[in-house]
Amino acid sequence: MAAKATIICFIITFLILGGIAVLIAWLADKMKTPTFSLDQAAVEDYNFTADNRLNATFTVVVRSHNRDPKYKIDYRVIVVSVYHSGYTLAYDTLGPYTAPHGADIIFTAQPTARNVMIANSGMARDVRNETRARELGFEVRVRAAVRYEVKRWKHKNYTLRITCTPVLISLSSGKSSQSTKCDVDRY
Ligand SMILES: *[C@@H]1O[C@H](CO)[C@@H](O)[C@H](O)[C@H]1NC(C)=O
Ligand SMILES: *[C@@H]1O[C@H](CO)[C@@H](O)[C@H](O)[C@H]1NC(C)=O
Ligand SMILES: *[C@@H]1O[C@H](CO)[C@@H](O)[C@H](O)[C@H]1NC(C)=O
Ligand SMILES: *[C@@H]1O[C@H](CO)[C@@H](O)[C@H](O)[C@H]1NC(C)=O
Repeated sequence: MAAKATIICFIITFLILGGIAVLIAWLADKMKTPTFSLDQAAVEDYNFTADNRLNATFTVVVRSHNRDPKYKIDYRVIVVSVYHSGYTLAYDTLGPYTAPHGADIIFTAQPTARNVMIANSGMARDVRNETRARELGFEVRVRAAVRYEVKRWKHKNYTLRITCTPVLISLSSGKSSQSTKCDVDRY
């Protein structure tokens, strides 16, 4: 009788400790934020008229590395914007993509400006100056709605806010000469 009670007691203790261990593992498990870089940027069909209307077709190649050893990341929707002086010049919407754990994904966006009127005079002056100097400087912002998931274990949706700056494109070659590292916020 006593031996049987001891065994039952042992099993219950084992189950409780096991449950606590799983709970701690669950709570301590932190999903790592992926890293981003802008590998390449280019512009075509560029025209900034005397009355401040802009045409430009940007091509931006963004690389993301999923540093997490367990979670896969589903990118549900990605919005890539070209920012200048605090305004959006052009944007493009992409997705969905999946980045398995430890993997890189590369996506190419083509934010396009067609007859965009630049009404802000300070910004128009800056863009005019850069057009004369044949070098555009801007910021690329990426917003991504993502879902982290480990099979049968855990999943969570996040928004990633990615900022890549400065991005410099020579209007003569139509390309950037170097890649740009990006900052990432997750919330
Ligand atoms: C730019 O736009 C203006 C006005 O629409 C046009 O006259 C000019 O030819 C265009 N320049 C280029 C390089 O496309
Ligand atoms: C921009 O492109 C559109 C379509 O290609 C064209 O009709 C328009 O004249 C262009 N505007 C400028 C400022 O070049
Ligand atoms: C205009 O561009 C030149 C050469 O890129 C730069 O040295 C100058 O500071 C710029 N001026 C303004 C007002 O941004
Ligand atoms: C999380 O993402 C999935 C698709 O990946 C979607 O079906 C679900 O509605 C999202 N949940 C929330 C709370 O947004």
